[in-house]
Amino acid sequence: MGTGEKLYLYPVWLRIWHGINALCIIALIISGISLHYSGRTFFLLDFQSAITVHNIAGFVLSISYFLFFFGNLFTKNGKYYRVKIKGLDKRLLKQINYYVFGMFKGEESPFPVSEKRKFNPLQKYAYIFIMYVFMPLLIITGFALFFPEIIIEQIFQISGIMFTAVLHGIIGFFVFVFLLVHLYVASMGKSPGENYKSIITGWHS
Ligand code: HEM
Ligand code: HEM
Repeated sequence: MGTGEKLYLYPVWLRIWHGINALCIIALIISGISLHYSGRTFFLLDFQSAITVHNIAGFVLSISYFLFFFGNLFTKNGKYYRVKIKGLDKRLLKQINYYVFGMFKGEESPFPVSEKRKFNPLQKYAYIFIMYVFMPLLIITGFALFFPEIIIEQIFQISGIMFTAVLHGIIGFFVFVFLLVHLYVASMGKSPGENYKSIITGWHS
């Protein structure tokens, strides 16, 4: 347990990226759902506004993704994202066990936050998947929908655009689910608001 000492874990560039990213994702989810149901009666946003919001937020999010990508490539924040397979299953199980049982029995976290380890194993691999698999796929399929002339016409008998739109929608849905879990897990700090403060001030206490 870090006995009261404060750690500076979220550098400025990371906090800027995270803020822009969070706002864009919320706008994309709202406008994306509106686009999906646009055939029906008025829902959240009308079609034209949904398109505009979705295109702008998608563009800003794509640019901001590079801030995250190069930030992690060129600063020491990247070290928290290194994959280490050996013993991974044991570490994941330990953390799951804590979330399901230990936490409610008042046990100490098996992987307390430190300068060396910012994330617990579950958190780390969730972030790796979302940031290095799902976000790139979301951005690539989003760009393909923006420039549909680059999409191949037919994939296994179905229209390439249809295929891309469905894939894009499914990935968008996963990101939505990630966000809900992310918000819940982020509330499990020392007090429910503690981690939310950290991602704004940079300091973990
Ligand atoms: C969590 C984030 C996102 C969600 C939930 C989402 C969801 C959706 C949905 C449901 C559609 C309608 C597809 C259909 O059913 O035909 C759509 C279309 C589209 N999406 Fe996304 N999307 C997200 C992120 C992005 C990003 C990052 C980009 C750009 C890089 C993007 C670009 C587009 C484009 C260009 C379209 C076609 C309609 C248009 O021109 O605006 N989306 N999206
Ligand atoms: C309203 C929206 C959001 C809120 C309130 C929020 C909150 C937080 C908080 C409190 C942290 C610090 C605790 C931790 O490291 O787990 C954090 C970190 C993080 N969040 Fe979010 N988040 C939001 C949206 C998102 C979205 C949409 C994504 C990705 C698609 C995301 C990805 C991340 C990542 C990768 C980190 C770790 C950054 C690092 O330290 O390297 N967040 N978030």
